[in-house]
Parts: sequence; C-alpha cells; structure tokens
Amino acid sequence: MRLAKHLAHAGVASRRASEVLIRDGRISVDGKIVTDPARDVDGTERIAVDDELLNPPSGKRRVVYAVHKPAGVVSTAHDTHGRPTVVSLVDSDARLYPVGRLDADSTGLILLTDDGDLAHKLTHPSFEVPKTYRVKVRELPVSEGSLRRLREGLVLEDGKTAPAQVRQARPGVLEITIHEGRKHQVKRMCEAIGHPVVTLTRIAIGPLRLGELAVGGVRRLSPAEVQRLRDAAEAP
Ligand code: URA
Repeated sequence: MRLAKHLAHAGVASRRASEVLIRDGRISVDGKIVTDPARDVDGTERIAVDDELLNPPSGKRRVVYAVHKPAGVVSTAHDTHGRPTVVSLVDSDARLYPVGRLDADSTGLILLTDDGDLAHKLTHPSFEVPKTYRVKVRELPVSEGSLRRLREGLVLEDGKTAPAQVRQARPGVLEITIHEGRKHQVKRMCEAIGHPVVTLTRIAIGPLRLGELAVGGVRRLSPAEVQRLRDAAEAP
C-alpha cells in the first residue's frame, strides 16, 4: 500500500495531508526519512511521524473512535434487551469497548477504544477530565439563582456535586461541564433545581468536541487527538 494511504488509514491525517507530511520530510520508515508518498509499505515497517512511532513494536497499535450516539442505542458493549449498541456502529476488527456511559435516551459524543489505560484515565473521577453536556430543560428560562446552585454544587442523594461550569445558551438550553460522571448526574442536577431534562447531548470530552459529526457517525481519532486526550487526563 502507498505510504500516504497507509498513514491515512492509521488516522494520522487525510490522504492529501499525509502526502504533505511525507514531502515535508516528517515521516520515517525503518529509521530513514521518506519523501516519496508513493513509497510502498506493507505494515510491518517501523513508521514514525516526527520521530513518534506509529506502530510501537511492543504490540498492536491501539485505536480510538469518536461516535455520535443516537438515542435508543445503548453504550454498553452488550445489551440484555437486544437493543443496538454503540460498538455495533463501528466497523473495526479491534475489541472495542465504550469509554464511560451515556444513558440510552442521551445522544452525543462517546469514545470507543481497545486502550484500557486511556479508557480508565478518561472515566475515573480522580483524573478530572471534564465532560460538557448541552441539555434542553422544562420550565424556562432557568433563573440566575438556579444556575448558581448548579455552579456551586448541590446536594443529591449520593452527596454534594462538585462545582460545575454552567451557561444558559438560550432560554431553557444549558451547557453544563462536570468532571464527576455519577449515574444520571446531569439529569439529577437539573431535576434538583426544578427543571427536568427534555434532551441531553454530550458535546465535548476534555479537548475533544463533537463538532459536525452526524448522528450515528463514526470517526477514528488521529494520534494527535488521542495525545491531547491523554494530556488532558494527565494534566496536574
Ligand atoms: N448525565 C446524565 O444524566 N445522563 C447522561 O447520559 C450523561 C450524563
């Protein structure tokens, strides 16, 4: 396979952008800089982008996909009720599992990966990776006092929530950023201020935004995007 195509398949960049990387001398194959995008590779070579190995010799390269979960699809790997799972939306040979959960009726950004270490860092509250939700609520608008209660933390049945970033994008539409990830947390927070959630969409996980990814759409993350997620989890 041509080197540029191989880089595109590996999620480094688009084919066109990979050709530019190659011509700019930023790609090495088995330790030697290659500037010909038509160079043939078979996947067994040690290929590096800016000296960072694409396929570490120690093992299989890990993959991370962003999925825009539709409503009605569950975010577990299997469902006892036979509902479709987010894993079934991704065409991959890797053993993927979802990073964290979204309720079945929630939509938005969810990651799938075979990288257990990254999954742990993105979901465990001790790493405090923020997640942002856009929620439409009932009984609008939400008063400044209620927004303040969300921001300062409020008492739920499993304890007080940590301070949240909250803004009312338009009357009855809130953007809420939290880093705790307790079960049904956003719905319970909104319920507690008297504004039950009508719809909930996750629009960001750390630095990664849902962006224009269509409902049901899947996109493999580039190594740079994965690194930014890792950095977000490892930031002091
Ligand atoms: N909070 C919720 O209440 N539901 C979700 O799906 C995600 C966060």
